[in-house]
Amino acid sequence: MSTAATSLDDHHDHKPNFFVRWFFSTNHKDIGTLYFIYAIIAGVIGGALSVIMRMELADPGMQVVTDGQMWNVIISAHGLLMIFFRCYACSNWWFW
Ligand code: HEM
Repeated sequence: MSTAATSLDDHHDHKPNFFVRWFFSTNHKDIGTLYFIYAIIAGVIGGALSVIMRMELADPGMQVVTDGQMWNVIISAHGLLMIFFRCYACSNWWFW
């Protein structure tokens, strides 16, 4: 049995590493998967901010977030993350 076909180059592994595999991919299914993962991560962060807001709004007055500026930051970050990073990314991924 001949081994000519494998004897010269079989020590080369042509599989791309993880970073190249996922972040340089032009495969539409890979890109869709990345959109999906991205949306999940944004949803978790935006969801964590909504938990802080719910804790604060559960009772009258200010107890968890005592700085008004920080409250505005949390609400704005939650809204932007949820709409632009979660919903937009999530509504695209299944079309790819
Ligand atoms: C699709 C996008 C969004 C999703 C999925 C979402 C999701 C949520 C969730 C799950 C909560 C917790 C509610 C609770 O525990 O009572 C929440 C709270 C809140 N979200 Fe959003 N949100 C989105 C967009 C926005 C936007 C655009 C704003 C405003 C800029 C916003 C402002 C708030 C506020 C003020 C609360 C606290 C309200 C409360 O708990 O009584 N959200 N959101």
